[in-house]
Amino acid sequence: MTTDTSATALVSVKGVNKHYGQLHVLQNINLDVSKGEVVVVIGPSGSGKSTLCRAINRLETIEDGEIFIDGKKLPEEGKELARLRADVGMVFQSFNLFAHKTILENVTLGPMKVKGVDKATAEKEAMALLERVGVGHQAPKLPAQLSGGQQQRVAIARALAMKPKVMLFDEPTSALDPEMINEVLDVMVQLAKEGMTMIVVTHEMGFARKAADRVVFMADGQIVEQAKPEEFFTNPQSSRAKDFLSKLLTH
Ligand SMILES: Nc1ncnc2c1ncn2[C@@H]1O[C@H](COP(=O)(O)OP(=O)(O)OP(=O)(O)O)[C@@H](O)[C@H]1O
Ligand SMILES: [Mg+2]
Repeated sequence: MTTDTSATALVSVKGVNKHYGQLHVLQNINLDVSKGEVVVVIGPSGSGKSTLCRAINRLETIEDGEIFIDGKKLPEEGKELARLRADVGMVFQSFNLFAHKTILENVTLGPMKVKGVDKATAEKEAMALLERVGVGHQAPKLPAQLSGGQQQRVAIARALAMKPKVMLFDEPTSALDPEMINEVLDVMVQLAKEGMTMIVVTHEMGFARKAADRVVFMADGQIVEQAKPEEFFTNPQSSRAKDFLSKLLTH
């Protein structure tokens, strides 16, 4: 296993390239995320944000470059990959809860199956996490009996149950009805305050302003610019970012 001695970053993406056929979807991406840092990734549809998230979790292969999690290079496959992948929690737009398992079972499944945690401990920890995201009383229900916002909070609890070092969120609120967006963002803001390292793809500028240390703007497979939220939103440098923000503000 390769260890990057220079890296102090918890997540380090170095010179990563990926194509889908002719499309150069990730173009020499370099991104370091420090421990406890919250990075919001923003950019037009098709710019490669989801692909980058998936690459960091090795749900996508990359052609060249390297990705380090806590100083350890992500291997291509095998047991070591499964272990390192457990360090990265992921929350998607669609909650993907197991429909025929209860809320509690959805959260205990990973720790029991992947980490060998015993049932009593897994349930105790799962209940604490469900309380933390405000859905403790929903534990015995099935996912379909919960609102979208509640299900997404369960998905966050499920990811946290694996005790990840970093959490990736890919547009976690974009499938939700407007009135449920804030209850999910509040949980994420709280997580950020507690010191979780987070990479969040979102167009929620309120969240970026409140919780992000840095905004990374992607367009056409490249990181075009990055800055503190206030700086980025008030004074974007590139024409791509200016154009994108003007559209975001008028919609
Ligand atoms: N499995 C795939 N095969 C081929 N092309 C793909 C695949 N997945 C994504 N793409 C293409 O790669 C580009 C980047 O996609 P990606 O999903 O990363 O964009 P995104 O920035 O997350 O966009 P959005 O804001 O719409 O979610 C798009 O042009 C998309 O059509
Ligand atoms: Mg996407």
